[in-house]
Amino acid sequence: MKKSHKVKVFTGIRPSGDLTVANYLGAIEPILKLLEEGVEPMVFVADLHALTDKEPSLAKKYIHEVVADYLALGLDPERTTIFVQSVIGPQLFTLMSYLARHISVAELLRVPTLKDKLKNNAREETANSLLFLYPVLMASDILMQRAEQVPVGEDQVAHLEVTRLLAKRFNDKYGNVFPIPKAYQVKSLRILSLKGEGKMSKSVPEGAIFLTDDIESAVKKVKGAVTAIEGKMTDGLESNIVLAKGLCKSEEDRTRIDTIIAEHMAGEKVMGEFKKVLAKVVSEFLTDFQEHRKIVVQTPGLIHSVLNKGARIAVENANETMALVEKVMFK
Ligand code: TRP
Repeated sequence: MKKSHKVKVFTGIRPSGDLTVANYLGAIEPILKLLEEGVEPMVFVADLHALTDKEPSLAKKYIHEVVADYLALGLDPERTTIFVQSVIGPQLFTLMSYLARHISVAELLRVPTLKDKLKNNAREETANSLLFLYPVLMASDILMQRAEQVPVGEDQVAHLEVTRLLAKRFNDKYGNVFPIPKAYQVKSLRILSLKGEGKMSKSVPEGAIFLTDDIESAVKKVKGAVTAIEGKMTDGLESNIVLAKGLCKSEEDRTRIDTIIAEHMAGEKVMGEFKKVLAKVVSEFLTDFQEHRKIVVQTPGLIHSVLNKGARIAVENANETMALVEKVMFK
C-alpha cells in the first residue's frame, strides 16, 4: 500500500473575500504560531462548504484570493500543505453519505450552530438542506485526511464533537479506521467593532479594518474608534487594546501601549495618544501585508504550484481512506 501523508494538524478556511484584521488575529495567527513551533499543518479552502450560502461561481472566485491572502500573511508554503476542498469533492461527498448513516436527524437538529442559524438568519422552510449536513461534511473533511488535531475557535467546537462521535461510531461498527481527532482549542479573541458594539465584521464596515483598506481610510476608522472615560475600562477599549497589541510588530510599541493604558487607568487624559499608536500599528500592518500580497500575486505560477502540490497529497490521502472505508464496509 502507498505510504500515507500523515496529518497532525488540519484546518479549513472559508473562501470569502474581505478578511478583516480580526480574522487575521483569530484564525490565521494561530496557524502561524503552529508553524513557528515546528508543526507543519494541512490547510484547505472550504469551497464546498461555501455552497451552503453562496453561488458556486462566487465561491470559486475567492479561492485564489484567499490563498494569496494567507501566503501574504506569512503561511509558508514550503511547510504547509494547502489544497482546495473540491479537488476531492467526489470522495468527500461519498464519505459524507456513509457517515450520515451514523447520526440521526434529531441529533443533527440539535447541533447548536444549526439551531442558531435557524433562529437568527435562516428559516427551515427556505434554508437549503446542505446547511443541515454541514457538520457531517466537516467530519468528512477531517476524517478523510485522518487528521489528529484540529485547531478550532469556539464556534466550531460543536462540529468537532460531531466529528468525534461519527469517528467513534464508525470505528465501533467496522473496526479502527479513523483516529479520533482532538479539538485544539484556540483561545477565542473577541475583537469588537471599533465602534465597541458587536463583533468586528463585514456587516459594519465603519467599525472593521479590512486587509485591503487603504491606509488613509483605515486611519480614519481608527480615529472614530471608541475610547473610554479616564480611569475606566470598557469592553470596547479592551478590544482595541487587544487589537493594537496583536498587530504590533515591535516590543517598543507594545510597551508604549502598556504605559498609555496604565496612565489612562490612573486617570490621565491619554486616549488621543492611544489612538495615535493604534493608527501607527494598523498602518504598518496593512502596508506590510499589502506589499507582500503584491509580490505573491505577481510571482508567476506561485499559487498554482502551491495548490497543485497540496492537491496531490490530499488526493492520495483521500483515495487511501476511501479504499480502507469501503473495504471494511462492503466486505
Ligand atoms: N466550518 C469551518 C468554519 O466555518 C470551516 C471548516 C470546514 C473546517 N471544514 C473544516 C475547519 C474542517 C476545520 C476542519 O470556519
